[in-house]
Amino acid sequence: MNFELEEMDMKKLGRRSIWLGSGWKMHKTLAEAISYAKSLRMYVETEGTNLHLFVVPPFTVLHAVSQILKGTSIDVGAQNMHWEDSGPFTGEISPTMIKDTGALIIELGHSERRTWFGETDSMVNMKVLAALRHGLRPLICVGEVVNEKESGQSERAVLQQVKNVLKNVPMHLLPSIMIAYEPMWAIGESGTAAKPDYVNNMHQLIRTAVAEFSQDCYAKSLPVLYGGSVNINNAAIFIEQPNIDGLFVGRASLEVDSFIQIMRSIEHKASISTLSPQSDY
Ligand code: PGA
Repeated sequence: MNFELEEMDMKKLGRRSIWLGSGWKMHKTLAEAISYAKSLRMYVETEGTNLHLFVVPPFTVLHAVSQILKGTSIDVGAQNMHWEDSGPFTGEISPTMIKDTGALIIELGHSERRTWFGETDSMVNMKVLAALRHGLRPLICVGEVVNEKESGQSERAVLQQVKNVLKNVPMHLLPSIMIAYEPMWAIGESGTAAKPDYVNNMHQLIRTAVAEFSQDCYAKSLPVLYGGSVNINNAAIFIEQPNIDGLFVGRASLEVDSFIQIMRSIEHKASISTLSPQSDY
């Protein structure tokens, strides 16, 4: 990844790089995945983009999608992995296997993994450490559950998660990390998107926590993305907030045309407005 070039491009937009990711969850056959990746590649090669795009397909299509997107500016990520390099862990995928596919990003600790598969902060932490050992870029998902929100515990819960998942991460590897703030009550069919200023505040808190953890280094450049019911109608509004560095989209990005529309709406917003510079934490 050429971060210097990215910074230069984004200066034209008045802020650091904006990330936009599509998480496919348990969707898409090989044929569907290939068609999506080819269309996205063609679009980006023809029209260009200032956004830092990534897609996060299921394991079965990771290699094929990585091959199609190789040599483009679009990164590929996996949705989960085990922390061990190999061993008797039936059904699991190791960091070396993920690397084999060509994926660079590894999504860890998504709330669906926590809810349905019992993932805890300490498991996520082991995965984060393993990912960094293998040169993968962790996209760590954190976010409060509805009870925590209703009892006014959101900030405490999210900050505790951040602290837990970053435990023992060597400071010099912090620049490889991205955080996705995804409140559980905002995700999926039954979710409602969080309010942009609510998200902005939470992102600022996350940044402050990382600043404390890293003795003020790296927190400013930490990408903090928002995910949860992002769609074509709200994407650009989120991006107006100074502490939202990008968006991680599920349902509304499953069709490549919708993902491209979201991309265009963000680019349009960035080109017509002088977005406020990244706030100090
Ligand atoms: P959604 O999913 O956009 O479908 O709410 C977001 C996510 O789970 O990351």
